[in-house]
Amino acid sequence: MDNLRDKYIDLIANAGSESALEDLRVQAIGKKGEISLQMRELGRMTPEERQVAGPRLNALKDEIASALAAKKEALADNALDERLRSEWLDVTLPVRPRRQGTIHPVSQVTEEVTAIFADMGFAVAEGPQIESDWYNFDALNIPGHHPARAEMDTFYTHRAEGDDRPPHVLRTHTSPVQIRAMQDQGAPIRIIAPGRVYRADYDMTHTPMFHQIEGLAIDKDISMANLKWVLEEFVKAFFEVDDVELRFRASHFPFTEPSAEVDIRCSWEGGTLKVGEGDDWLEILGSGMVHPNVLRAGNVDPDNWQGFAFGMGIDRIAMLKYGIPDLRAFFDSDLRWLRHYGFAALDVPTLRGGLSR
Ligand code: PHE
Repeated sequence: MDNLRDKYIDLIANAGSESALEDLRVQAIGKKGEISLQMRELGRMTPEERQVAGPRLNALKDEIASALAAKKEALADNALDERLRSEWLDVTLPVRPRRQGTIHPVSQVTEEVTAIFADMGFAVAEGPQIESDWYNFDALNIPGHHPARAEMDTFYTHRAEGDDRPPHVLRTHTSPVQIRAMQDQGAPIRIIAPGRVYRADYDMTHTPMFHQIEGLAIDKDISMANLKWVLEEFVKAFFEVDDVELRFRASHFPFTEPSAEVDIRCSWEGGTLKVGEGDDWLEILGSGMVHPNVLRAGNVDPDNWQGFAFGMGIDRIAMLKYGIPDLRAFFDSDLRWLRHYGFAALDVPTLRGGLSR
């Protein structure tokens, strides 16, 4: 019995894995294990012999079982120690400078605009960037033959040979979100929809992908006057000026009637832009009263509801506010540019905290 004990205690101490331990358990105290077989012998012993051997065998079995359990725990501890050693991380170390990121001006401005409109009761809505041509055009009162389709320099997706359905498009504006939001939420509704849009165009002020923010407010008696107030409030808050003059220029969009493009009074002194003063005007958005056909496409009854919509270029107003001359640099991922024009990650824009500290 002492030999058995020494043998197994030794083997257990040297076992290198849980599966080796399990093999040892079977060998020693499993149903046909060495110690179990010895216990079966008890039946053939004299009562006196049994009285001595029985408790000793039971004690041996217990000792082996607890040695196995202890070793199993030790192996698990070692594995954990090993893992902790290899995954060790000193969280008190300062951030490695090469890992320091910044918030992109487009993200920053999107947050700023969202904060301002949230204060006026607008919720954020979203739609897909790959859009059906119905949402991007037809639902917005732009039928198949309409010149606006050609003017938009649309990117079309590819359909398989023999598939006659109209191809999907990369949305050319955020206006399809107007339709989706009305279908989802009905009227009254007050939303803004920031996001990426696509047009085949590339120069100093145009990139094939850029960002817009759509606004939509539908209720019983919303008029152009409300549009004007909302936009003035927005521009004052966004450019952080007390007074600002907006100019509503009659324009045309298929999805609004009447339509207006909105310019902001500004000056260019020594190449820097000042908003709210001067003799120049700068176009910042398109807008108007939502066309009855558009309301109908959104399942909203134009006899009961009316309202305004606008669409604004986010990159454009980011360039204006932060004096960034070339739009293309927005999307070059040049770290030096990002460090120069980027924002600190924890400067969350709020109206009360200052939009762009
Ligand atoms: N969708 C228009 C554009 O991209 C902007 C717009 C939106 C105009 C809403 C009027 C109303 O140019």
